[in-house]
Amino acid sequence: MAKAIVVQKGGGFDKVTLTTRAAPAPGPGEIQVRLRGSSLNYHDYAVVSGMWGPTEPRIPMADGAGEVVAIGEGVTDFKPGDPVVSTFFPTWLDGEPEVEGFATTPGDGVDGFAREVVTASANGFTHAPRGWSAVESATLTTAGLTAWRALHDEGRVKAGATVLVQGTGGVSIFALQFAKQAGATVIATSSSDEKLEKLKSLGADHVINYRATPDWGDVARKLTDGRGVDHVIEVGGPATLAQSMIATRVHGHIAVIGILTGLAGDFPLVNALVRQQQLRAVLVGSRRQQIDMIRAIDATGLKPVIDKVFALEDIVAAFRHQESNKHFGKICLEI
Ligand SMILES: NC(=O)c1ccc[n+]([C@@H]2O[C@H](COP(=O)([O-])OP(=O)(O)OC[C@H]3O[C@@H](n4cnc5c(N)ncnc54)[C@H](OP(=O)(O)O)[C@@H]3O)[C@@H](O)[C@H]2O)c1
Repeated sequence: MAKAIVVQKGGGFDKVTLTTRAAPAPGPGEIQVRLRGSSLNYHDYAVVSGMWGPTEPRIPMADGAGEVVAIGEGVTDFKPGDPVVSTFFPTWLDGEPEVEGFATTPGDGVDGFAREVVTASANGFTHAPRGWSAVESATLTTAGLTAWRALHDEGRVKAGATVLVQGTGGVSIFALQFAKQAGATVIATSSSDEKLEKLKSLGADHVINYRATPDWGDVARKLTDGRGVDHVIEVGGPATLAQSMIATRVHGHIAVIGILTGLAGDFPLVNALVRQQQLRAVLVGSRRQQIDMIRAIDATGLKPVIDKVFALEDIVAAFRHQESNKHFGKICLEI
């Protein structure tokens, strides 16, 4: 038996318990993984807090990393001892998106990685970056891959492009790091002057306090000599989209990713039309895209920005920390 966290039907921080689960030997095509790390995302917060609570008792957390302890018949990609990291869509291996919603996502539609041991399809994992700890690798499944796909697979970011990233959460900081590696100029926003200083030390070329400067879209545009930015990593949602569109150039690309300010709102259609902007909704990515991202990480030596690490048993305290918005980068769990 191995330790596991379970959140009861409907979710809620008072419905989170520590329990044990059996760890079956891997069947054909499966691997057994000793998990050592996970990381928190807004999606996990929604499941565990009860905002989008599960329809049945569920082991939460979409992100998981650790090492392979056993392989089933027919598995050739992995061997015992290999460091691995989970994928967000275990059945979306390559090509165009083919999965709607979160029915197959660990920690939502199926059990996730807030546990010591998991036995699952080998297709639901990739090799981890060389030299990264499991806690570090776990930051890639959701936040890292979303930023990577938005910039590279959808945005086709080029050296010299200008990328605007919003806030200092997991997705935006990975986007800043990947954009700088691609040779882009980065404009970063935050509600905190202290965090703006940290963004500069990570390589942000320009920073804007979005709370003190509500027309930050216009300010960002001016920073590009009036041309507009090439890419926006749009995590705010309804309350930020209009400013993002003001910031973006003609035929520029807005990766529509987050819902931090709500699920629906006014859409300034005319702005999109007059500037012929490309709005692309992005939901994490495929296993192939994760493999490509990790190859790039191995080549460049990038490291994730981790704010704080909590023990698995302190998962509720970790979510409370996320709720406080004091974090800069990823909040992680050590298992
Ligand atoms: N579509 C996808 O595939 C995908 C994948 C991952 C996440 N998401 C979504 O993307 C969003 C961010 O996720 P995350 O995991 O990176 O969250 P997170 O780590 O919890 O980040 C939250 C940060 O967002 C910033 N923020 C909050 N309100 C903002 C606003 N009005 N304008 C600009 N920034 C704001 C804050 O930064 P400051 O404290 O610096 O102000 C806050 O610290 C969430 O809505 C999440 O559901 C989507």
